[in-house]
Amino acid sequence: MAAQLIDGKLVAKTVRTALTAEVMQLKARGIVPGLAAVLVGENPASVIYVRNKRKACAEVGIVSTQRDLPATASQMELLNVIGELNDDPRINGILVQLPLPKGINPDAITDAISPAKDVDGLHPYNTGRLTRGDSLFVPCTPLGCMELLDHYKLPIEGRRAAIIGRSNLVGKPAALLLMHRHATITVCHSRTQGIDAICREADIIVVAMGKAKFLTANMVKPGAVVIDVGINRLPDGSLAGDVDYGPVAERAGWITPVPGGVGPMTIAMLLSNTVVSAKRAHGLL
Ligand code: GUN
Repeated sequence: MAAQLIDGKLVAKTVRTALTAEVMQLKARGIVPGLAAVLVGENPASVIYVRNKRKACAEVGIVSTQRDLPATASQMELLNVIGELNDDPRINGILVQLPLPKGINPDAITDAISPAKDVDGLHPYNTGRLTRGDSLFVPCTPLGCMELLDHYKLPIEGRRAAIIGRSNLVGKPAALLLMHRHATITVCHSRTQGIDAICREADIIVVAMGKAKFLTANMVKPGAVVIDVGINRLPDGSLAGDVDYGPVAERAGWITPVPGGVGPMTIAMLLSNTVVSAKRAHGLL
């Protein structure tokens, strides 16, 4: 039997509609949520991501600004921009688009963002508190994955989850979020031995490996929930996730497509985090 579709585009739209109403109410009280996007260099994917994020802000009524720095910018120049944004009361969220050019230490940049404006949830204050389950912000992509599971009421408690990929942006926070919801977690990565067997035991598989079509049908337990975080450009120019979609969809119970799965949710959660930040800044949370 073919898997049921986890429609991230649709769920993201639902989230954005609710946020639009919320932002309207905030504006009636004189509160205008603001997001600052910082783009260093001209990585084509990053340019598109930032454009899409700002467009989504405009749709829900969040005011966004953009600071562009050349690829040759120094770490100090970027730190100065972040300092200005930290001090600007109109800005509730600061998003420094990753990856950064060589020569800039991404950890030093993340560390400089005010934890209260860290809508990406990557500052050590927030990652530290995430281990305890009470961070100010949760990274947008794993938060979006959780929203998808919850929207479709897919059970988490007591289930086995395999997470493929151990990045700070996705794998590690996804593991913590699922653990807090009482799943049993295995985090796999490029050096994991026996990854196929681990995946076959899992009721939920989150794939964030960055390798096109990595998860094949023989790695999936019939009926499992498959969340594909990957987005890879194939030689023919088409997009593919980290999941071998066609055959896996024949075997899984639920599956996210690429595009139209996790991607739109990442953006929706960024908007949500920015609204939360604005409310907090005005004592509403
Ligand atoms: N690059 C890829 N994903 C992300 C993300 O969620 N946030 C930021 N800042 N950069 C990214």
